[in-house]
Amino acid sequence: MNKVVIVTGGAGYIGSHTVVELFNAGFTPVLLDDFRNSQPWIIDRLEQLMGVRPLVHEVDCQDAIAVEEVFARYTNCDGVIHFAADKAVGESVVNPVKYYQNNVGSLCVILNAMKRFHLENLVFSSSCTVYGESDEIVVTEESPVKSAVSPYGDTKITCERIIRYQIEAEQDLKAFLLRYFNPIGAHPSGLIGELPQGVPNNLVPYITQTAKGIREKLTVFGGDYHTPDGTNIRDYIHVCDLARAHVLALNYLSSKEKPFCDVLNLGTGKGTSVLELITTFEDVNELKLNYTIGDRRSGDVEQIYANTQKAKEVLDWSCDFSLGDALRHSWQWEKGIKEHS
Ligand code: UD1
Repeated sequence: MNKVVIVTGGAGYIGSHTVVELFNAGFTPVLLDDFRNSQPWIIDRLEQLMGVRPLVHEVDCQDAIAVEEVFARYTNCDGVIHFAADKAVGESVVNPVKYYQNNVGSLCVILNAMKRFHLENLVFSSSCTVYGESDEIVVTEESPVKSAVSPYGDTKITCERIIRYQIEAEQDLKAFLLRYFNPIGAHPSGLIGELPQGVPNNLVPYITQTAKGIREKLTVFGGDYHTPDGTNIRDYIHVCDLARAHVLALNYLSSKEKPFCDVLNLGTGKGTSVLELITTFEDVNELKLNYTIGDRRSGDVEQIYANTQKAKEVLDWSCDFSLGDALRHSWQWEKGIKEHS
């Protein structure tokens, strides 16, 4: 029997791509998802991609009884990749309790279940948001974690801290805290990708929906930053490269003695401005995008991108896909979506 890996939020954007990478690497992914922010038909797409239907349990990760019932069925499991969380920064400001309850609550349920069933390996979905308004433009894992600008960001900082404390206390857990930069793109097959609910907050879904005619025009949030072209700089990473790093992280954890805890930045190591990204999108997809430069969005960091040296050294990982690939794949995926929620 292949090694089983529990993937919470396995029907979500990064989760679904990780499920495919796990399967391709010879694992049997078991998905826990309540489809609050994903679509059940993604499972059909995963089946199309993998040739077998993935094992899925429709479970809210805040529900300890339901989660432990699932864990009880996979006591031979190799590890847990915990994606399930709410992620809309703006919503977290309006409804902070929802974010603490779900993001922090779910992690506690998962940690208790791991302890009960003696599961040792945890890969946790964190974010570069923990660096906040960093003094450094290129952040390493040693860069200070700043006080969060949003409740969402604070849940990620809190979850990281809980995992560290749990490892210190229990000594029988191994974990990677993976800090993602800006995940974009979609599976090259066009079968899975990002499905934002309502009006997208993130740049690339807004661009693809504008190119498709769902949105009239994109507003670039600020053209007067202290960057070469005046727009914000971010580190946009293809979701498949990101997904692959999870498989490597899990393999690495399996090879380590417990206790173990480490942090890795997952980005490309390259900064791209909003205008550069728009131009690349237009070039690779041979179209013109309707956009204007507008006011700054409050809370936006001027520029941040990853130093990826550590992930390279530890996991022997680097990105295969370019920015152009990611933007071609995003557009291909967008064109195939029948209807948006
Ligand atoms: C945001 C979150 C971050 C989260 C990440 C997930 C904030 C403050 N941060 O990062 O915590 O982990 O998403 O991907 O919300 N932009 C426009 N016009 C738009 C949309 C975006 O110009 O319509 C610009 C933004 O100003 C920014 C860049 O595009 O410079 C990227 O924005 P976005 O995709 O929202 O990601 P982040 O804000 O970097």
